[in-house]
Amino acid sequence: MIVGKKVRLRALEKSDLAKLWEWLNDEEVMWFWAEPCSTQSLAEVEQWFAKLQETAGRFSKQFIIENEEGAPIGRIHYEYLETKHQRTEVGMQIGEKEYWGRGYGTDAMIAFLDYLFNELGLHRVYLRVESYNPRALKCYQKCGFTQEGILRHHVFTRGEYHDDLMMGILCNEFNQRQK
Ligand SMILES: CC(C)(COP(=O)(O)OP(=O)(O)OC[C@H]1O[C@@H](n2cnc3c(N)ncnc32)[C@H](O)[C@@H]1OP(=O)(O)O)[C@@H](O)C(=O)NCCC(=O)NCCS
Repeated sequence: MIVGKKVRLRALEKSDLAKLWEWLNDEEVMWFWAEPCSTQSLAEVEQWFAKLQETAGRFSKQFIIENEEGAPIGRIHYEYLETKHQRTEVGMQIGEKEYWGRGYGTDAMIAFLDYLFNELGLHRVYLRVESYNPRALKCYQKCGFTQEGILRHHVFTRGEYHDDLMMGILCNEFNQRQK
């Protein structure tokens, strides 16, 4: 269990898949991921989960974000973990929309970064964020991520190309901010 000030993060379980599937079916949630909603069946989500178990967190792992009452409100993950380079990519989705803008995402990401840097011993964490997602951008800035570049016209969604922003944070930068 990874414990934040407001949230707790725990491994995604099979019993979470129906809730995850609800979030994947939410048009607004998925717009911020530049993905269309309702394109995966529950059976496909179950297959994806089964495949994830095979690698047991060696390259990627999914966590559920729980609120103060222990209810699932979203998910956070790392993927493309490279032990040689001590780096990983991360992503986050608060699927319960009434929790947006209330500090849960920032709290979850700070707790997750602490785990990645100070438990797994990583050196660098990076992510991509859609340029049309100012709430996510602000959240990641509050966690200490720095914008490192722009991937021009990286996604095509709702009939238009959009830029993605690359952001990253190093272990020493994170730990310095937490003092
Ligand atoms: C992005 C996301 C994880 C952020 O989590 P969150 O709990 O909503 O974020 P927080 O409340 O911790 O921080 C958001 C900040 O952005 C600000 N904000 C909200 N809407 C904003 C907007 N339209 N423009 C600028 N800032 C905005 C909030 O005021 C807050 O800053 P503050 O604490 O200084 O007031 C969450 O909103 C989410 O999952 N959204 C849908 C999916 C998504 O976008 N995933 C991320 C893909 S990269």
